Amino acid sequence: MNKKTVTLVYFSPTTTTRNVLEEIAKGTGYDMADVCDITLSQAREKILPEIDSSLVVFGAPVYSGRLPSLAADYFKKLSAPGICAVPVVLYGNREYDDALLELKDICIQCGCQPLAAGAFIGEHSFSTNQTPIAESRPDKSDLASAFEFGQKIARMMESTAKGFSCADLDVPGNFPYKEPTIPKKVPFIEVNEDCTACGTCVTVCPVEAVDEKDGFCAMDDICIHCCACIKACPESARRMKEGHFKDIAARLHKTCDKRKDPELFFASR
Ligand SMILES: Cc1cc2nc3c(=O)[nH]c(=O)nc-3n(C[C@H](O)[C@H](O)[C@H](O)COP(=O)(O)O)c2cc1C
Repeated sequence: MNKKTVTLVYFSPTTTTRNVLEEIAKGTGYDMADVCDITLSQAREKILPEIDSSLVVFGAPVYSGRLPSLAADYFKKLSAPGICAVPVVLYGNREYDDALLELKDICIQCGCQPLAAGAFIGEHSFSTNQTPIAESRPDKSDLASAFEFGQKIARMMESTAKGFSCADLDVPGNFPYKEPTIPKKVPFIEVNEDCTACGTCVTVCPVEAVDEKDGFCAMDDICIHCCACIKACPESARRMKEGHFKDIAARLHKTCDKRKDPELFFASR
């Protein structure tokens, strides 16, 4: 019998989604068929990948209770008829609201059969040393859950010859989904004198919003506030400006301090 294979498709500016998906894939023990990292715009502009593996795991962070629209728009264009799928969202210890349901619905739209789903916790993009939010998540325990989740998915795939009905995977969330939040066009990034103009921020930005000609500041009309440039800066020369987003970080630091754990869902047979 051919060895089973898995494809990963994810958007992950600050890498927490990627780390969890990789651990799930390890847990399955399957060979990696393809890794489709759509974080950067160059990747989203490429010809759509053909998904012909045994399993596909879709992953994205939660932005204001929904999927980031550029990730959702890309996922919707994929076609993977009859392939078992696992939707996974990463959220910053507040709530994932309708994002997991939205991703499960997209899997069905792509022709996939959702087999299991997971909501994991990742360090909040807005987390800072002064106002940590889910700092260093996913941690060892989260990654162990992700690995075990992968093992369980592989067991489910083995134990069924007939496959699963899409209607049988229930995940929390409401339809119609929450209204998407339009990103506030306020000054977001501050760059200090430690910047060496190495350009790392330019290479990690998913929307090409970092303006080299303007001291590597972010263009406020394009920036999606993912914080990839802040977290990737080797000199720690970038941070959120005082104001709207820093205030949100301070509030979340206070209100989201109680640890949440991964929630896993499985299709019934
Ligand atoms: C614009 C924006 C909105 C977010 N909204 C939420 C949210 O509604 N709930 C939540 O718990 N975390 C929220 N987060 C935090 C991310 O979901 C979390 O940090 C996730 O782990 C980031 O994934 P990544 O590392 O793959 O980029 C938000 C982050 C950003 C940048």
